[in-house]
Amino acid sequence: MRKQVAAANWKMNLTYQQAEQLITDIINTPHTLAAHQRAVFAVPFPYLTMVADKLKGKNGAAVSAQNCSSYKSGAYTGETSVEMLQSIHVEYVVLGHSERREYFHETSQLLTDKVNLALQFGLTPIFCCGEALSIREAGTQNEYVANQLKESLFHLSADDLQKIIIAYEPIWAIGTGKTATSEQAQEMHAHLRSALANQYGQEVADSISILYGGSVKGANAKEIFSQPDVDGGLVGGASLKADEFVQIIQGLK
Ligand code: PGA
Repeated sequence: MRKQVAAANWKMNLTYQQAEQLITDIINTPHTLAAHQRAVFAVPFPYLTMVADKLKGKNGAAVSAQNCSSYKSGAYTGETSVEMLQSIHVEYVVLGHSERREYFHETSQLLTDKVNLALQFGLTPIFCCGEALSIREAGTQNEYVANQLKESLFHLSADDLQKIIIAYEPIWAIGTGKTATSEQAQEMHAHLRSALANQYGQEVADSISILYGGSVKGANAKEIFSQPDVDGGLVGGASLKADEFVQIIQGLK
């Protein structure tokens, strides 16, 4: 079975003390992860080691960065390299979140560089894609999102592509409380999987986890995750509440 992943995206929220409390509360809320399930915590850079320490010995749980530099190292003030992340045992990095594409002008080419560096240093990219409301209203979302994958990922070998997790996050559903229906999520996920199959073959496409993101919460996670091509979620707002996020983890199939 494909890996099923509940990924928390804390974004730029919480003080250190609040973050420590939240991860402690999550750990202390009873839950179990099967061998094919993962709970991943994409936390702000200054909290990565603290959260990783707290998760030590917890099977299936790991930390993720929310971004990394597109440069390898050097005179890039304020940037954080993948090698730095690797050196503190960070296993995942979220790349191409729509907030980074929109507010920090991240382009497909820049994301290609970040994906390549992440893979070079052994981190698993959680690669985000998704359309704005205007694109969905025009009915061109399938081509648009498949093109985002094509532009940033399709240069990869099949071996490297299989190391990536994809997160489909329709922008109109992020932080709005307006979740895509499970049918809308399934339709896009199936479309993306067929785009992957066209390029890399069905076996490779079937091995790649595709997460849904956009107003996932405890109450709707199980239904969305039950769709055949939805392999978990990338969760913002609801990941900041221990009981909600644990309910989401427990909604994984
Ligand atoms: P949301 O955010 O769950 O608050 O909608 C999801 C995301 O941006 O990853």
